[in-house]
Amino acid sequence: MIVAAPLWAGHLATPMRAFLVGNHKLPEKVGLVLTRGGSSPDTAFTEMEAHLPAPAKAKLTLTEKEVKAGTFTEPLKAFVAELNGATDNTFGRQA
Ligand SMILES: Cc1cc2nc3c(=O)[nH]c(=O)nc-3n(C[C@H](O)[C@H](O)[C@H](O)COP(=O)(O)O)c2cc1C
Repeated sequence: MIVAAPLWAGHLATPMRAFLVGNHKLPEKVGLVLTRGGSSPDTAFTEMEAHLPAPAKAKLTLTEKEVKAGTFTEPLKAFVAELNGATDNTFGRQA
């Protein structure tokens, strides 16, 4: 399962927060995706992971600029590869 949401005011966007606190039975294998303008995604990733039954298998963060420019192929490939088997990591630029 892949959980993807935007960053709002430095936090996980409220609709996704509401979904995650809704007592859904989430699978063990979850990948997290955060889109953002440019702030750090760390707090929002922590907020997302707090609702998972196990640590996320992979994390990907993309800026709105990267999404609009379509320059996310490599980070996306790495994210999918990670989700399918390697160690936990965060892909995408932090700046
Ligand atoms: C209400 C609101 C608050 C936002 N706050 C932040 C923020 O604190 N940091 C940031 O980097 N981007 C922020 N953004 C930008 C969004 O994260 C960005 O537009 C979004 O990830 C793009 O995905 P979307 O087109 O699916 O909304 C905010 C956007 C909105 C609408």
